[in-house]
Amino acid sequence: MKAIVLAGGSGSRLYPLTKISSKQLQAVFDKPMIYYPITVLIASGIRDLCIISTPQDLPRYQSLLGDGTKWGINIEYREQARPEGIAQAFLIADDFVGSDSVVLMLGDNIFSGGDDFPRAMHAFAGGATIFAYHVKDPTRYGVVEFDRNGKALSIEEKPVHPKSGYAVPGIYIYDNQILDIARSIKPSPRGELEITDVNLEYLRRGQLQVRRLSRGFAWLDAGTSTALQEASAYIEAIERRQGIKIGCPEEAALVRGFLKLDQFEALLDEMPKCEYRDYLAGVAAEIRRLDGLP
Ligand code: DAU
Repeated sequence: MKAIVLAGGSGSRLYPLTKISSKQLQAVFDKPMIYYPITVLIASGIRDLCIISTPQDLPRYQSLLGDGTKWGINIEYREQARPEGIAQAFLIADDFVGSDSVVLMLGDNIFSGGDDFPRAMHAFAGGATIFAYHVKDPTRYGVVEFDRNGKALSIEEKPVHPKSGYAVPGIYIYDNQILDIARSIKPSPRGELEITDVNLEYLRRGQLQVRRLSRGFAWLDAGTSTALQEASAYIEAIERRQGIKIGCPEEAALVRGFLKLDQFEALLDEMPKCEYRDYLAGVAAEIRRLDGLP
C-alpha cells in the first residue's frame, strides 16, 4: 500500500501566515503540520509516499523532507498547478500509485490517539475504507448518514441540513479502482473534483466501508488561525502531560523498524540542540535500557 499526502491549496484562511509559507508547513505546537499525517502513515507501516503541493511550495517540502531516506521511507513529489479538487491527486500521481492500493491523507488533518488507522490499513481487503467522526458542526465537511445497523446510506459534501453529526476526516483508503473512478468523476458546481463523489461511487458499487473513530480519538482542524492555535494548545497539553510526542516521524520510523537504533542516533547528531532532539535522545536511551545496551 502506498500513500499520497495532499499539501496544496491556497491556504487563504490562514493569511497572512500563508503569504510566505504553505499552510501544511505551519507550526502545530513544536513541529510542522505535515509531520502529523506523515507520522500516521509511517506508524501504519507505509514506506512509499508521494507529496503533492503547489509549484511554489513543493521545493519547501523537498528541503524539509528530502527523499525520505533519513526516515527509512521513499518520498516522491508531484505538482498540482491549480487547486482543482482533492480527487485530482489521483490523476496527478497515477504513475506513483501504479497497480497498488493507496491511502490519501490531507496534509492539514491532525489526529491523535488510538490505533484505528493502522488497524484499518492492515485489515483493508479492497474497495474503499473511510472514517467517520462525530463533530459539533458537520456542515463544513463531508457528512455520512448511517442506518440503524451502522451501514452507510449516504454521503453529502457540506450539507446545509446534515443528516447526521458524523463528518468524514481527510484520510481515505482505496484499492486500485480509484484511478479509473477519479478519471470518471466530473467537477462539482464549485469546479472541483470532489473526494465525496469518489466515495459515493464506491458506495454505489457496494464497496464502501465507513469505520467510526472511537470517542477518545482527537481529529483536529487547523484551517483557521484560531483553529491552528487551538490545535497547538491541544498537542502541547497532551505532550506535556504524557511526556510523549504526537506526530514525530523519527520515533514512528524507529518503532516501526524502518530505522535501526544506530541510524536513529545518527539523525540526532545532525540536529541542533533543542527540545525535539532531547526528546528523541530520551527515546533512544529508553530503547538502549530495555535492550540492555550500553
Ligand atoms: O478535512 C476533511 C474534509 O476535507 C472532508 O470532510 C470533506 O469531505 C473534503 O471535501 C475536505 O473538505 P475541505 O473543505 O476541508 O477541503 P479543502 O478545500 O479545504 O481542502 C482540504 C485540504 O486539501 C487543504 O489543506 C488544501 C488541500 N487541497 C485542496 C484542494 C481542493 C489541495 O492541496 N488541492 C486541492 O485542489
